[in-house]
Amino acid sequence: MSATAHGKVILLGEHAVVYGQPCLAGSLHPGASCDAEHGPGGVRLHVVPWDRSFTPDDGSEIGRAVGGLCAALGVSDAALTLTLSLPGGGGVGSSAAMGVACARALAELAGRSLDDHAVMELALGWERVFHGNPSGVDHTLAALGGVGVFVRGEGLRRLRLRGPVPLCLGDTGERSATRAMVEGVAVLRTRNPAMTDRTLDAIGVVVRNGALALEAGDAKGLGDFMNLNQNLLASLLVSTERIEDLCAAARDAGAYGAKLTGGGGGGCVIALAPGREDAVLAAWKTLGVDGRVVQVGR
Ligand code: MEV
Repeated sequence: MSATAHGKVILLGEHAVVYGQPCLAGSLHPGASCDAEHGPGGVRLHVVPWDRSFTPDDGSEIGRAVGGLCAALGVSDAALTLTLSLPGGGGVGSSAAMGVACARALAELAGRSLDDHAVMELALGWERVFHGNPSGVDHTLAALGGVGVFVRGEGLRRLRLRGPVPLCLGDTGERSATRAMVEGVAVLRTRNPAMTDRTLDAIGVVVRNGALALEAGDAKGLGDFMNLNQNLLASLLVSTERIEDLCAAARDAGAYGAKLTGGGGGGCVIALAPGREDAVLAAWKTLGVDGRVVQVGR
């Protein structure tokens, strides 16, 4: 039994999406793939790129998450092998892609035919193990793919685009847990509700306008909204010096826009630089980052 799932990038709107604002996101492929077979006894998940195995009772979050999936599907023995094509913990949806790929492979192993909605329900349970208050954007994109505007509780409204969106993707090499970054914004909102809510509202406006720019094929306009969104994210204290350095280098190299993607506190940076991708990757290289061009929504 073999199953796959997408990764994702958030073009605009992370963090604000947790509070009901829209976010503009697209899928990355490949994300994760999972093979499942009946095992010699019990449940074991092996993550190939990390060369590490997890079991439901090993005390790890991944072990707990896979145990939850198996319990929900009534599977008591399974050997799962997961291949991840995304940087783990980098804000590009690796956790949700793992959850969706495992849920699909386990459902097949259990002889169950699940629609995308049922897979997303299972993957939401997986996501809650890692992150107390997920908006749902990560596992929705992991299951459905494409490019669209996601609203918590409403789902994904796909955008009609002429083709995938090429973006430069660079990993800062820094890592912070999404849970901690989301909690940080919640603390800021408790301490200073009016200022934080104004910022979250402003991000919502940026997303709505950015989606219009993307649909109209206005790369310069979308880039401007990415830069605006990055400033607003920095004011929510989820950026880092390294993220700002990578964004500045990308803009100096000709990118229309650059920003963090995902929870921030490190992770990956995206840059929109049609025709200037090589210059952006070269600029990042001088900062010690091996970036690549990804096609979002393919
Ligand atoms: C994480 O990829 C995106 C956040 O907005 C959290 C969420 O939406 O659940 C930071």
